[in-house]
Amino acid sequence: MSYPTRVRIIDVGPRDGLQNEKTPVPAEVKIALIHQLQAAGLQEIEATSYVSPKWVPQMADNHAVMQGIERQPGVRYSVLTPNLQGWEAAVADRPDEIVVFGAASEAFSRKNINCSIAESIERFAPVVAAARAAGVAVRGAMSCTVGCPYEGEIAPQQVAYLAGLMKGIGVQRVDVADTIGVGTPRKVQRAIEAALQHYELDQISGHFHDTYGQALANTVAALELGVWNFQSSVAGLGGCPYAKGATGNVASEDLVYLLHGLDIETGIDLDRLVDAGAYISNFLGRKPQSRVAVALLNKRASA
Ligand code: HMG
Ligand code: MG
Repeated sequence: MSYPTRVRIIDVGPRDGLQNEKTPVPAEVKIALIHQLQAAGLQEIEATSYVSPKWVPQMADNHAVMQGIERQPGVRYSVLTPNLQGWEAAVADRPDEIVVFGAASEAFSRKNINCSIAESIERFAPVVAAARAAGVAVRGAMSCTVGCPYEGEIAPQQVAYLAGLMKGIGVQRVDVADTIGVGTPRKVQRAIEAALQHYELDQISGHFHDTYGQALANTVAALELGVWNFQSSVAGLGGCPYAKGATGNVASEDLVYLLHGLDIETGIDLDRLVDAGAYISNFLGRKPQSRVAVALLNKRASA
């Protein structure tokens, strides 16, 4: 068995990581975080979302964040757009990629975006068409691909169904998300195999929350299938406000440490990534939720 030789990471910390924080994080801090992530070598950063500020107040400063970033050539900045209103707001800020986000669970779709799966696809279709016509790339996030906080276990067929709908409206690549971090390696592999019925391996990324501490094991399981795109959150920040009890994404620092240990190239400087995680964690007044970051910070302190 061989793993991919290279992995591309999308750091979703500025969006998935911060969206659930109760204390408002000023746009300058988000911008500084994004600058530190790009300085650490991240080539893809999920910067913000254009959703209702009543639903997710922390993302209300989307324009300020996108306008404030000093863009680094070669870095792709992505943003979430759930509907045409979100797309119209986002397009002025020139994202490189937009993300429509659906769910493999009906109940989660309703809680998160206030519509059924079928309605969500109807809403996404004109967004995808507008983005592609404007030359903006389109990714589709698929939530609850192994488990749902409202429906429990999710069958792989539901993932295949959603992936097929996304493909049908022109979504170019998809994220297989374990929103509440309940997945274990074989279950995650089955969800990925379901997505593979409609998308190529190169078009599938793993998005694993670490609530039950399985995200790294699930990452290895995805690598075994050849998946080489992953999403993670610096300092393990995050969680979805409509998935109660779910914690952050796998920490980018832990993911990078794992990958480098497997001789898989990421282009990321782990020390600088730890600096970025320490910066945002200091601002939030807590330690990074990353075992690797804490270990390396302790080592620095004792050196
Ligand atoms: P709705 O209430 O059904 O929308 O919400 P509506 O079209 O009926 O409009 C109602 C109000 O929302 C109106 O304002 C609209 O202007 C406003 P009012 O007249 O009441 O003042 N509105 C908007 N405002 C700003 N931007 C927009 C927008 N659209 C409508 N784009 C909606 C539907 C999708 C907007 C709402 O449910 C929403 O904002 N949900 C947010 C969901 C969210 O951000 N969840 C977290 C991200 S997903 C995630 O974390 C999972 C992921 O990480 C993968 C994983 O781990 O699973 C991606
Ligand atoms: Mg998420």
